[in-house]
Amino acid sequence: MSDLTFPTGFLWGTATAAHQVEGGNSNSDWWAFENKPDSPCKEPSGTAIEHYSRYARDIALLAGLGFNTYRFSVEWARIEPAEGAFDQKELDHYRRMVDMTRKSKLTPMVTLNHFTLPQWVAERGGWLAPSTPELFERFTRRVVEELGEGVTWYCTINEPGMVAMGGYGGGFTFPPGLHSVDSWKGAIAGLIASHKRARAVIKQLRPNAMVGLTHAMREFESNAGGAAVMRYARRMAEDVFLEASADDDYIGVQTYTRTTFELPRLAGLTASIALAIPAIERATAKRFLASQRRGAPGTEPGSGMRRTEMGWEFRPQAIAATVRRVASLMPGKPIVVTEHGVATADDAERVEFITGGLTALHAAIADGVPVKGYIHWSAFDNFEWASGYTMHFGLIAVDRATQQRAMKPSARFLGEIARANRLKVSDV
Ligand code: BGC
Repeated sequence: MSDLTFPTGFLWGTATAAHQVEGGNSNSDWWAFENKPDSPCKEPSGTAIEHYSRYARDIALLAGLGFNTYRFSVEWARIEPAEGAFDQKELDHYRRMVDMTRKSKLTPMVTLNHFTLPQWVAERGGWLAPSTPELFERFTRRVVEELGEGVTWYCTINEPGMVAMGGYGGGFTFPPGLHSVDSWKGAIAGLIASHKRARAVIKQLRPNAMVGLTHAMREFESNAGGAAVMRYARRMAEDVFLEASADDDYIGVQTYTRTTFELPRLAGLTASIALAIPAIERATAKRFLASQRRGAPGTEPGSGMRRTEMGWEFRPQAIAATVRRVASLMPGKPIVVTEHGVATADDAERVEFITGGLTALHAAIADGVPVKGYIHWSAFDNFEWASGYTMHFGLIAVDRATQQRAMKPSARFLGEIARANRLKVSDV
């Protein structure tokens, strides 16, 4: 067997998101949510890993490892802390980040929205407010103009499916903390409208830029009883957004795990019935959201299933199932793995996860799936939303007391693969 070589020009990178790494994002809805007295978050983001002030050294570290791409997000709450009041020094900051990224020979991939909203947008209803798509379009226009022509990859909104389900359907402890099928659907509509407006404005300003959404996708499985709930879940969390991406330049795929629906059969329930009859839909949604509950980390005694720190099934090859699914739904559409990673304190497990994921991805590419890049989540251990700093997704560890960065073996491992554009068979 020979080494697994990836296509020429393959993007190899790591990702971060502003709120998870910058620190002091005090005008955002997440900041307010983390700091309220009854917050469901383990701890507030606080100073995070000070990427806001340390970005230059951080980017140099990533370039030194061998990567050619860096995916990061700009923070709407910093750039427009009050309606219409764009802060030029924040725009200049992100322009410097782009320049530094390019100077380091990394292709910048800029995410315009990664989960957080300015608090003033949230107070109006966030993704439910009729004004949000227009406001997001205006913000996008300003950012794209300021960042210049050096940005050729844009992601408008990160994982809209997670945002809608997590914060509006009640699937996770995300702001605004709503729990209804109606607000879930309202947020889906708002996110899609916002994406389309942002995409149009980027294409108008930068016709050659690659513009897309990053989609949270899972490998889904079910028994006969769970099939309707699974299809419902897939429709609400993935398919509505894939359909909205039909005219995008690429599909960003982010996959961490597999979800299996093993449920007793409900007579006659199909996904279309579930969607058509409100009471049945509410019950179906409830079953889906209940399935989001995480298991305990470690190996499950009965089933032998390995679970990560997040309590998700350890399933690196799930990424191949999702890119294959995208390719079958949207033949020929370029795909970029914009996130794939594992929360573990055992770095050898991360090397195993990367190896398993890349091996399965390589096989998909060999079968004709047009995957153009692999971006690992995450460059650094960082703020994992409601779980605070308890999760270890990073290739690089950060001691938050001293802000020292420490390279883990997985960072060098993936960096070498990136440099060689090849996974050595001896590593598999
Ligand atoms: C998000 C990241 C998050 C990661 C791990 C993705 O859903 O884009 O912000 O940290 O998953 O949970």
